[in-house]
Amino acid sequence: GIGGIGVEINVDYVTAVVLNLSNAVVFEHRVALDVQALPAEAVLDAVTELAIRALAECDERQVTPVGMTLAVPALVDTDDGVVAFAPNLHWTKVDAVSGLRRRLDGHTPGFWGSLPRRHSAIQVDNDANLAALGEFAMGSRAGTADLVYLTGETGVGGGVMVDGRLLRGAAGFSGEIGHMPLNPGGDLCGCGRRGCWETMVGLAALLRMAATPDDPVCDPSLDLEQRLSMLSGRADAGEPRTLDALKLVGEALGLGASILVNVFNPRVLVLGGYFASLGDYLLEPMLAELHARVIAPDACEVALSTLGFTAAARGGAHVALEAVLDDPTLVALR
Ligand code: BGC
Ligand code: NA
Ligand code: ZN
Repeated sequence: GIGGIGVEINVDYVTAVVLNLSNAVVFEHRVALDVQALPAEAVLDAVTELAIRALAECDERQVTPVGMTLAVPALVDTDDGVVAFAPNLHWTKVDAVSGLRRRLDGHTPGFWGSLPRRHSAIQVDNDANLAALGEFAMGSRAGTADLVYLTGETGVGGGVMVDGRLLRGAAGFSGEIGHMPLNPGGDLCGCGRRGCWETMVGLAALLRMAATPDDPVCDPSLDLEQRLSMLSGRADAGEPRTLDALKLVGEALGLGASILVNVFNPRVLVLGGYFASLGDYLLEPMLAELHARVIAPDACEVALSTLGFTAAARGGAHVALEAVLDDPTLVALR
């Protein structure tokens, strides 16, 4: 059968996923990478290595790869395949699609050549947009036409599905919910402005509230999962500072969510990233704040994502497959 490749660039790791036509995971791999400390070209090198590894796995499993989507924590010009601006990576105008195409052509002569040289064989999109498409295709609330996906990690991102379609906006930059200025004059954001929602509910905000900088949970050598399991361990043990921090973040999450619910009237709001991992503690204060603020009589449901930290990569792999399904000249590959 055929497979789609999704590769996700995050602030501190890169993940590749291969899905088959049933959206089952054929291959999944993550490598730690200090993306903020590297030039974009070096990150694209790492993405290429990971993609080559995914291609080799496809080969071994007799899966024909049909395309690849790169997910980035950024505003993306999807038509041109250019990353316009990534606030937390400090990227501006990175030509991701041609950069990847050039690298992959060099490494695997003939591979992409076996496909029509369609633009869509390699695509790039915003991470949260792809995650929302992943939720819509294969998440716990798959098929919900009006769905808002919200993810938290270093950055806070969103993907807004309205009437079963992803809302893109004039330049394709809609869904930048992490930069709603909910605390004007507040902390400095990666985007250069102050008081963005991201500075209130991003992982850095939680850590600042839950721990002093010399606390082991802030140790930069920890990976995301280790850090989150430490925090949930403390919360489970009833550690007051952790619980207070989670309550404050949960309330701030509900505040921003109330705006999204007022504006988009979603059926469900899906929480991804660390919002899902620590959902047991965030949900109650979030829902209290959300229900107190929202204007509509029946506030929407809030669900925790079951796709974990690979939601964007899976969404990307799915989109790569869909591009082929839509293309009548490639029917033979199915
Ligand atoms: C970026 C978004 C991204 C989000 C989550 C934000 O800082 O502006 O584009 O979706 O982080 O990674
Ligand atoms: Na988005
Ligand atoms: Zn910002």
